[in-house]
Amino acid sequence: MKIIMLGAPGAGKGTQARMISEKYGIPQISTGDIFRANIRNETELGKKAKSYMDQGLLVPDELTLDLVVDRLAQDDCAGGYILDGFPRTIPQAEALTGALKEQNTKIDFAIDVEVPDDNIVQRMSGRRACPKCGATYHIRYNPPQQDGICDGCGAELIQREDDKAETVQKRLTVYHSQTQPLIEYYKEQGCMHSVDGTRTMEEVFGDICALLG
Ligand code: AP5
Ligand code: MG
Ligand code: ZN
Repeated sequence: MKIIMLGAPGAGKGTQARMISEKYGIPQISTGDIFRANIRNETELGKKAKSYMDQGLLVPDELTLDLVVDRLAQDDCAGGYILDGFPRTIPQAEALTGALKEQNTKIDFAIDVEVPDDNIVQRMSGRRACPKCGATYHIRYNPPQQDGICDGCGAELIQREDDKAETVQKRLTVYHSQTQPLIEYYKEQGCMHSVDGTRTMEEVFGDICALLG
């Protein structure tokens, strides 16, 4: 099963992708997490990506595409995967369609987690992230068992650099202009579905499971 998570920054793509990954036993591939790992490890890619991410802009397609194609070729992707945060531009979607076509396959589900912009800023300000394992929490909606500590791996939770209110606004603008057109693109491919992302995480997950079967 090959799944794409679409939706605005903070809509809950990562939260849902993680739950899907656990239930269906397929890997979650988050380009945002991959870039953040590269920034932490101070790689060349990380240095380049950071300047864009800090401004709320997209990392250029040429830095993103090969990375994803290489990742999808790894063994753990043989039974499917969940793409979280990719594709984000029409050229990325076209490149993905092309790469899949070469393997005689295609995306099964593109899922748009719909949340209005007003709710997003509030969600982002309460988000806390684990820099080690990538788990995401919310101080109100999904708090860790122990304040500031990751339930999964015990690392200290952090607030993401790009979760400042001004940067979130910029990310939303970029989302509407560059990423939202993908909804039309995947409608044309016949695999587009939407879920109401304003409800609780469990309710959203219930809808997604009903879709996936
Ligand atoms: P990325 O890391 O993908 O960030 P994003 O798309 O902005 O999305 P987020 O991770 O912020 O939100 P999410 O939808 O995963 O929500 P979450 O589950 O955390 O990308 C970061 C940057 O990297 C980009 O800006 C760009 O620069 C670059 N980049 C990445 N991919 C790229 C690509 N393909 N091309 C070019 N550049 C790329 O939830 C948010 C919060 O809400 C959490 O606190 C969570 O606990 C809470 N929450 C979740 N669900 C609910 C719910 N139902 N009710 C209440 N609270 C909830
Ligand atoms: Mg995410
Ligand atoms: Zn952790």
